[in-house]
Amino acid sequence: FVLAAATAALMAGAAPAMANCDDGEVVIKFSHVTAATGHPKGEAATLLAKRVNEEMNGKACMEVFPNSQLFNDNKVLEALLLGDVQMAAPSLAKFEKYTKKFRLFDLPFLFNDIDAVDRFQTSEDGQKLLDSMQRKGLQGLGYWHNGIKNFSANKPLVAPTDAAGLKFRVQTSEVAVAMIEALEANPQKLAFKEVYGALQTGVVDGQENTWSNIYTKKFFEVQDGVTETNHQVLDYLVVTSTEWWDGLDPAVRDQLKTIMDEVSATRNSMSTEINTQNRAKILEAGGKIRELSADERQAWVDVMKPVWDKFKDDIGQELIDSALSANK
Ligand code: LMR
Repeated sequence: FVLAAATAALMAGAAPAMANCDDGEVVIKFSHVTAATGHPKGEAATLLAKRVNEEMNGKACMEVFPNSQLFNDNKVLEALLLGDVQMAAPSLAKFEKYTKKFRLFDLPFLFNDIDAVDRFQTSEDGQKLLDSMQRKGLQGLGYWHNGIKNFSANKPLVAPTDAAGLKFRVQTSEVAVAMIEALEANPQKLAFKEVYGALQTGVVDGQENTWSNIYTKKFFEVQDGVTETNHQVLDYLVVTSTEWWDGLDPAVRDQLKTIMDEVSATRNSMSTEINTQNRAKILEAGGKIRELSADERQAWVDVMKPVWDKFKDDIGQELIDSALSANK
């Protein structure tokens, strides 16, 4: 009976109370998978909670659960729909079950840099995508930047042929799978919290991630080095359930959205700096970073960019063109 009652409560969207919340406050559990400090997402979530708790005291109460403490990214979307948590910020690669449109962001070498990503996300087309999963019960509240990804492996990677035959951990993204296969390497989907162990024990040989993820989760310690391929963006969708969001008192919802937009603008403008700092910290800690010449990098482009063809119908050529126009 207890279990059934708990399930019923979750289905009804009622969140279990948190220790630091007062009666009558809207409880907001924010679950994510990265480090809380020194990381673009971790810092953004912390600032969001700080502002909500200060400015909405008596109305709302937010607690952040970082480092996959509560859920990994695939489970968290189900948890959102059940009302077990109210906010999360999985990477854009992890929405495949809910929309194929987000495959756009995974296309290798689509955006020149994070400023181009920002221009697209803030454009009309980018903003429309926030509402693209409403029928599935998910509401995007905004985008948070992490940065651009690089490959690492347990052997030196300079030419794309160096990756052939290796096993790479990927996120749950078919574009990532196709990309690794284009390198004649083997993709293995794994949750973020399993990556360090899988690299350490040799379950996989390599992975692809941003400087912030590679540094804060110490992947560089169990890899030969990181190669500056700068091949793909890793950004986040701050997401909630439409049911919970639509059920909020309009004044509470408006205030939350205003705070959310301000936090996004503030923290997004700092993501590149954080990644640059984490790149430097990898070097300070004795990690190896391989820079590529323009010709060397072009070889990676030539091998991986053809995967676009496989996904352009899912995404739509117009949307791809719209994203490309953000490169200026
Ligand atoms: C990953 O799984 O590599 C990333 O999505 C983790 C994260 O949230 O940055």
